[in-house]
Amino acid sequence: MSDKEMLYEGKAKILYKGPRADTIIQYFKDDATAFNNVKKGTIAGKGIINNKITELVMTRLSQIGIPTHFIERMSDREQLVHEVDIIPLEVIVRNTVAGTMAKTFGIEEGLRLPRPIIEFSLKDDDLGDPLIPENHILVLGIAKEDELIEIMEMTSKVNDFLRGFFAGVGIELIDFKLEFGRLNDGEDGHFIVLADEFSPDNCRLWDYETGEKMDKDRFRRDLGGEVEAYQEVARRLGVSLELEDKE
Ligand code: C5P
Repeated sequence: MSDKEMLYEGKAKILYKGPRADTIIQYFKDDATAFNNVKKGTIAGKGIINNKITELVMTRLSQIGIPTHFIERMSDREQLVHEVDIIPLEVIVRNTVAGTMAKTFGIEEGLRLPRPIIEFSLKDDDLGDPLIPENHILVLGIAKEDELIEIMEMTSKVNDFLRGFFAGVGIELIDFKLEFGRLNDGEDGHFIVLADEFSPDNCRLWDYETGEKMDKDRFRRDLGGEVEAYQEVARRLGVSLELEDKE
């Protein structure tokens, strides 16, 4: 890895300059954090699993017409993506009440919502990623109105598709977080693409039959079995975890 120019080290990924102009390499680490970095640890093999699940999800989403930053997986832990200007919002979709929503409103986890909720948090660790209303996003110029509409439309499409995708392997998609970026169109403009990753680190996945948690809540809540849970999600999705050792 040392020959690559590091651009940024995040909690679960490192970004390197890509081999071509306007490309980035996302390197997936095994490091796990929760509660805004208060809890730290590692989940062995997580980086490989998340890299490969993200590859699968991004590929499927682009097949249904969702533009993404994903170009190709390069190795067990690396994927090549387009460089985008990340919009500093965490776009969260909730199908079933869990986590922060359960805590904030005093609702028991597991209540299936009559329709999905899309909410936004400002992506800012120092502020603890506060919930941000649409009005604030627009007035503060974080995104324009047409961009926000597009983000919400794309997010709904992603949710419709992924609920069915996971249901097909016996998993209920409870909630998840997406990030979007602006990709230069080669002229003067840009368009919005899905960026970052999609993995059990940023969604909640419950087994349909047993209700068992198969996501990062196992780590957050000290439930144990996180490695096995991540592996089981990969196995059900048909993601091979055989090492390719191309790094
Ligand atoms: O914690 P909360 O209930 O708001 O999380 C909702 C969903 O968003 C969960 O699937 C969680 O994994 C994801 N999330 C995330 N990154 C954050 C906050 C939440 O991936 N910073």
